[in-house]
Amino acid sequence: MAKARESISASAAPIVLDLCSGTGDLAIDLHERLRIPVVASDFCHPMLVRSLAKMRHARIQDSTPVIEADSLTLPFAERTFDVATVAFGLRNLEDPVQGLGEMK
Ligand SMILES: C[S@@+](CC[C@H](N)C(=O)[O-])C[C@H]1O[C@@H](n2cnc3c(N)ncnc32)[C@H](O)[C@@H]1O
Repeated sequence: MAKARESISASAAPIVLDLCSGTGDLAIDLHERLRIPVVASDFCHPMLVRSLAKMRHARIQDSTPVIEADSLTLPFAERTFDVATVAFGLRNLEDPVQGLGEMK
């Protein structure tokens, strides 16, 4: 499982962070539709294991790294990503306002 964004090769394409990504369905769909790097992050290890298996099955694991991270304390520098997405995850956060702040 990737630890940080450096696993994505340097690219001029926008980079997406999909938060609370679960088993990666949105990250996979975004990557397959837009052909841009998408980092899938979640704090639930078993979900990420399933996510990574799907990425590998689709042979897109190099451009869709899976990162274990708490959406309330993201381990990324400001402006690391161009877009942040979250599907059915904001409602799950203990503090949704803090989560929105991290996304911003
Ligand atoms: C309902 S699932 C949605 C998964 C996926 N986005 C989808 O649409 O299928 C919610 C996800 O939010 C994750 N989650 C909840 N709180 C989180 C937090 N503080 N940090 C990271 N992930 C969190 C859970 O582990 C779970 O995978």
